Amino acid sequence: MQAQRFLVTGGSQGIGAAIVTLARAAGHDVVFTGRNEQLVAQVGRETGAHGLRADVSVGADNARTIEVCRERMGGIDVLVNNAAFGYSAEIGALDVEAMRTLFETNVFGMVDLTNRVVPLMKAQGHGDIVNLASTSGMKGGKGGTPYAASKWAVRGISQCWQAELRPHGIRVTCVCPSEVQTAWGGKVGRNNPNKLYAKDIAETIMAALHMPPSVLWPEVAVFANNPWKED
Ligand SMILES: NC(=O)c1ccc[n+]([C@@H]2O[C@H](COP(=O)([O-])OP(=O)(O)OC[C@H]3O[C@@H](n4cnc5c(N)ncnc54)[C@H](OP(=O)(O)O)[C@@H]3O)[C@@H](O)[C@H]2O)c1
Repeated sequence: MQAQRFLVTGGSQGIGAAIVTLARAAGHDVVFTGRNEQLVAQVGRETGAHGLRADVSVGADNARTIEVCRERMGGIDVLVNNAAFGYSAEIGALDVEAMRTLFETNVFGMVDLTNRVVPLMKAQGHGDIVNLASTSGMKGGKGGTPYAASKWAVRGISQCWQAELRPHGIRVTCVCPSEVQTAWGGKVGRNNPNKLYAKDIAETIMAALHMPPSVLWPEVAVFANNPWKED
């Protein structure tokens, strides 16, 4: 794959940081976002990518993010919509405002940013958009109303974008990881070799991007092989 210009949302830790790291190691230009200034600066220092403090749920931040990509890289070839967070609650005891806030990042933020990137990709006649959904968006579970619903939405939106953007040479790939051992939900220090690591998802995304431009993986579910031991 020739050097590409990546924009990764939520690159300050976890899967996003792993994507930033792999993309930089492969010689690509990378701009990434996050809200935690310290972590953004750290990933920037470690990878040589340009980190930007920006909240994907804020329209003005997304406009600035695109401007920075234009100034520093001259455009965007690969958009990775990774930023998201979780909120778990059972129906009957669910804070609907908290669910709305989650949708502002996991769904509307992704839509707003991509809405601004797609005209650039259409004008150049190519591009890749990678949306991070989840296996939680493939099977509902206890407490999953807010988060699972947001990830079902990401999967549905990805299918709509595939229908709209295939004629423009733009690929949309939806990646659905099973449990990944990041600091997701405040869990830290996990190191179970029978479960997925952030790098596994970054490798999967890079593999999808490496497919010939005429080949599209619309959706990739990623599970750990042999997850026979529980934490
Ligand atoms: N870990 C799992 O088990 C798992 C499984 C399936 C799918 N996924 C999906 O994979 C993606 C990454 O998850 P992860 O495990 O790497 O999570 P993580 O370790 O919690 O990292 C999430 C990243 O998103 C950023 N972020 C959150 N809200 C943001 C916002 N409003 N604006 C900009 N950045 C924001 C965070 O940065 P700041 O805090 O600096 O803003 C952080 O860099 C998510 O879409 C998640 O739903 C994760």
